[in-house]
Amino acid sequence: MVETMNVNAPAYVKHDGLKRWVAEIAAKTKPSRIVWCDGSEQEYAQLCAEMVAAGTLIPLNAQKRPNSFLARSAPDDVARVEDRTFICTPNQSDAGPTNNWMAPDDMRQTLEGLFDGCMQGRTLYVVPFSMGPLGSPIAQIGIELSDSPYVAVNMRMMTRMGRAVYDVLGADGEYVPCVHSVGAPLAGGQADVAWPCNSTKYIVHFPQTREIWSYGSGYGGNALLGKKCFALRIASTMGRAAADQADSPGWLAEHMLILGVQAPWGKKYHVAAAFPSACGKTNFAMLIPPAGLSQQGWKITTIGDDIAWIKPDAKGRLRAINPEAGYFGVAPGTNEQSNFNCMASLKENVIFTNVALTDDGDVWWEGMTKTPPAHCIDWRGNDWTPEAAKKDSIKAAHPNARFTVSATQNPVLDEAWDDPAGVEIDAFIFGGRRSTTVPLVTEARSWEEGVYMAATMGSETTAAAMGKQGVVRRDPFAMLPFCGYNMANYFSHWLQLGEQIEAIGAALPKIFCVNWFRTDDQGRFVWPGFSENARVLKWMLARIENNAGGVEHVFGVTPRYEDLDWAGLNFSEDLFKAITSIEADAWKQEFKLHDELFQTLSEGLPSNLLKIRGELEARLG
Ligand code: GTP
Ligand code: SPV
Ligand code: MN
Repeated sequence: MVETMNVNAPAYVKHDGLKRWVAEIAAKTKPSRIVWCDGSEQEYAQLCAEMVAAGTLIPLNAQKRPNSFLARSAPDDVARVEDRTFICTPNQSDAGPTNNWMAPDDMRQTLEGLFDGCMQGRTLYVVPFSMGPLGSPIAQIGIELSDSPYVAVNMRMMTRMGRAVYDVLGADGEYVPCVHSVGAPLAGGQADVAWPCNSTKYIVHFPQTREIWSYGSGYGGNALLGKKCFALRIASTMGRAAADQADSPGWLAEHMLILGVQAPWGKKYHVAAAFPSACGKTNFAMLIPPAGLSQQGWKITTIGDDIAWIKPDAKGRLRAINPEAGYFGVAPGTNEQSNFNCMASLKENVIFTNVALTDDGDVWWEGMTKTPPAHCIDWRGNDWTPEAAKKDSIKAAHPNARFTVSATQNPVLDEAWDDPAGVEIDAFIFGGRRSTTVPLVTEARSWEEGVYMAATMGSETTAAAMGKQGVVRRDPFAMLPFCGYNMANYFSHWLQLGEQIEAIGAALPKIFCVNWFRTDDQGRFVWPGFSENARVLKWMLARIENNAGGVEHVFGVTPRYEDLDWAGLNFSEDLFKAITSIEADAWKQEFKLHDELFQTLSEGLPSNLLKIRGELEARLG
C-alpha cells in the first residue's frame, strides 16, 4: 500500500515537485501500488506478460508475427469521444464555439468526484515522456499517471518514454501533468476484466495550467495523452501564447504528416499535409511512387504521420518536427498494394487493437487480403466467417482498429526524422474526404487564400471518432477536434504568422488543397489514390519551381490533364474531368456552409477571410 507522501520514487528522479504531485494523485485515486516506468525493454516485456496473464493482450503466433500482441477493447470504447472532450478556460470565448467548454472550477469539482478512489485495486504507472527529440529546444516533457498498463506500453512506442526524461527534467524542469484513469476501481479481491473502462467519459484540458485529465476510456487519443491532448490541444495553445511574447511569431501544432520527397532533379523537398482523422495521412506519409515515377527517381520518406510542430527559424523559414516516435495507425484498408511500407513496418513488435485473430494466430482486417480467411475471431471475440459476415454485415476488424508501432520499423523513415532542428517545409497540403464538389487539387494563389481554403475545408466523418459516419462537416485545417483554443483566433494566428514571415522577406510554403475521395454514381472512388497521389505531389513541386502548367479557376490554380505525369497509368481525360470539375450550383451550396462556419466563429474572425470569401464568390459569378 502506498502512503500518502511515500511514493518510493527511484533515486534518479530528482524532481520534488513531481514526487509531491504523484503523492497527491495517489492519495486521491488510491491505487494499490505505484510503478515508475523506466522505458526499458525488460519492463516492456514484463508489462506485456502481465497483460497476457490478465487476458488484456493475446500473444500472436511467434513465427508469423514475432513479439506482437492483440488487444480487444470494450465494444463501446473504440474511438475518440469528441462530445466528451472539454477545454476548460476561465472565459468560454477562449475555448471558442467549436469546443465543449466547462468553467474550470465546475470541472475540477466533477473530476474530484470521479477520481476519488478511481484506481483502487490497480497499479498507478508513472510514465515519463518527451514529445520531440529528448532535450531538443522544441521538445516538451509530459508525465502521464495512468492505471492502464496498455497505455504504458503504447506510450513507450508512441513517444520517447523512459528514464532519460528525468535527466532532462532535472530538479525543477517543467512538464505537462497528465492524469488518466480507466475509471474502473476494483473492490477487495474483485476479478478484473480484459479491458476495463467506464461508460462515463471525460477528456479534459486546462490550457491555462497546461493540465490534462482523462477518465473512463482506455482507447487511442482518449488515453495516450501525449498525442491529441498534449501534442495538439495543449501544444496549439502554447504555440499561440508564444506569439504574444515580444518578437516572437509563435509556433503551430498541427494534425499533419511530414514527408520528404527526393525529386529527380536532385533537390529534396519537405511537405506537411493535414487530412482529418482516417483520411490518408499515414498512407501519404509512407507512399511508394508508382513505377512510372519511381523510375524517374522520385522517392518519398517519412518524418511523421499524424502530428507536426512547426516554427519559423532565425531566417523565417518554417521548420517542422514530428513530436511523436511511433504510429497509431488505421489497420482496415492497409495492404501490400495500398501501403507496402506500412505492411513492412508491421512484421514484428506490434500491438494491434481491435483487429481480427486468424486461426493460425495472426491478424486480419478488411482490405488486408482480397480473399478473407475462411474463419477467424472478430474484434469482439466471436467466430467470424465471410458468409455470416455478408448476412449480418459484421466486420471482422473494427473500422477504427489500429496498430501501434515504433517509427524505427518504417523502412522509409527519413534520416532527419529525429533531427531536433526539424525540416524546412516547402508546401502545405490540406485535404478532406469529399465524395462530390471539391476537385482533385488546387493551388492557392496566396497564403491568405490558402488559409481560407484550409479554414473552410469540409470532410465526411469517419470511424476515428464516435458518432455518425459519412456526415460532411466543416473541419478547419483538419483541426476541429484538436484545436485547444478559439478557432477564429487560430485562423488569425495562421494569417499573422504568414504576414510576419513575408515581412522579413522569407519564402512562405505554397498551400495546396486536395481531395482523393470523389466518387462515381455507384459510390466508387474515381481516383485510384494511394501511390498514384505521387502524381499530384510531383505537379505541386514542379509548380514551386515554376515548371508546371495550370489554369486559374475560381479557387486557385488547377492542373490541366496534360499537366500531370501519367507515366504508367491509364486514366482517361474524361475521368480526370469527373474529379476536377467545378459545378457552380454545388459551390453556391458550399459557400453557404462556409458562411455558416464564419457565422459560428464571428467573434474574432479575421476580416481577411470575409474579404476572400467575397472575391471568390464574385469569381464564381
Ligand atoms: P488518423 O490516424 O486517424 O489521423 O488517420 P490518417 O489520416 O493517418 O488516415 P490513414 O492514412 O490511416 O487512412 C485512413 C483510411 O483511408 C484507410 O482505410 C485508407 O485505406 C484510406 N485511404 C488512405 N489514402 C487513400 C487514398 O488515396 N484513396 C482512398 N480511396 N482511400 C485512402
Ligand atoms: C485520430 O483520430 O486522428 C488518430 C487516432 O490519429 S487517435 O490517437 O485516437 O486520436
Ligand atoms: Mn490523427
